[in-house]
Amino acid sequence: MGTPIASDAPVLDVPAARVGLERARRCTLDLVREISDPDLERVHSPLMSPLVWDLGHIAAYEELWLVQRWGGERSRHPELAHVYDAIETPRARRGDVRPLRRGGAIDYLERVRERTLAVIDRQGVGDGTLHEMVIQHEHQHHETMLQTLSLARLAGWRPPERGQPPGAPDGYTGLELLDGPSGPVRMGADPGLARFAYDNERLAHEVTLDDFRVGRTPVTNGAWLEWMQAGGYDRREWWSEEGWSWRRESATAHPGAWEMTPDGWCEWRLAGRAPLALERPVIQVSWFEADAFARAHGARLPTEAEWEAAACWDADAQRQRPWPWGQDAGRAGRANLIDSGLFGTAGAGAQPDGCSPCGASGMVGDVWEWTATDFGAYPGFVAHPYREYSEVFFGGRYKVLRGGSWASHSRVATPTFRNWDFAPRRQIFAGVRLAKDA
Ligand code: AVJ
Ligand code: FE
Repeated sequence: MGTPIASDAPVLDVPAARVGLERARRCTLDLVREISDPDLERVHSPLMSPLVWDLGHIAAYEELWLVQRWGGERSRHPELAHVYDAIETPRARRGDVRPLRRGGAIDYLERVRERTLAVIDRQGVGDGTLHEMVIQHEHQHHETMLQTLSLARLAGWRPPERGQPPGAPDGYTGLELLDGPSGPVRMGADPGLARFAYDNERLAHEVTLDDFRVGRTPVTNGAWLEWMQAGGYDRREWWSEEGWSWRRESATAHPGAWEMTPDGWCEWRLAGRAPLALERPVIQVSWFEADAFARAHGARLPTEAEWEAAACWDADAQRQRPWPWGQDAGRAGRANLIDSGLFGTAGAGAQPDGCSPCGASGMVGDVWEWTATDFGAYPGFVAHPYREYSEVFFGGRYKVLRGGSWASHSRVATPTFRNWDFAPRRQIFAGVRLAKDA
């Protein structure tokens, strides 16, 4: 069947690799600079690693792929390999394995980077695939670390904010639906898109979609609040069986970041507690909640194929757009979180770069959106370059999320990028977009 490489064009050349590595590292260091040592080293949530683990793991991943595999050199830290192997040491055990502390982890990052650059000087980057993968890995962990920070609600830390994401211009709630593109559409990382793609986005293939409707924007906090006030968390008939037992056992009665105060509903954002912004997308809801909300509105979650078609299928041109709004990343995901300094969601419908071909807004770069689909292989899947990126997670235990959040780098979260997690999980900056049979 097909080749595991999405495109014959080089992914990165040497100068672009150097710039990408450097920018990713600047984000890493900027993100942790003002976090105290105890906050960096503590386990804030049983679901998440201590932040210092992410730091050492970023270095270990780069050492493995760019120094050992690409450069053919030996690890100088074989004793750290198991500490930072995400599969051998799952999140729940990362507080116990004694990761390097702040100084040691930052040293490790620097020492590995020197070797990476020496290897590049010596032998270039090939087609750049491994370097792009390592750059994206570092950015993916920025989002993981921001999830940890969001759950931690640190009193003594503020994100390096420089401004606020735009509010909502048009009063959308997420309940407004559009016609999605139906019929035969292509999905997956088509070689014509000429960019790096993970193995799980390949092979690009055709699917045929029945007529469907899709939300113009993600569902807002305001729409969620109305649903809660209408008994959303109490009306059994709106929940799946599994969802209802989760809701009861977890005693969940509102989204993860919400808190009722004497002044009404507030929401924890990275910068602290603020009155609930009704026009912004709801986040930190589980798949079960997303599914119940959709059912209560006579709707459902989009399938992964519907989601992708709504994001980028250009029915007139009969091809996928590289981005929902056109050819360039634009301000998607604010491109670089730390450079932009915008640490939160924008208002529903505030899509600075425009809508997708079918008119949907906010498809990429504001909130992850739960889909109805279980994470699995596309036809012709070949694990590349390692089974543990995707393949070990196939098999129906995880739900697919699409679109990327405000914390996702645009290098990572493209319209074909697939994320996944367990249905009960709420640490992701994930919300809901509705869909319906037409
Ligand atoms: C694609 C976000 C599910 O965080 O487990 C990070 C990304 N892979 N390090 C994850 C990843 C290896 C992955 N997700
Ligand atoms: Fe990782």
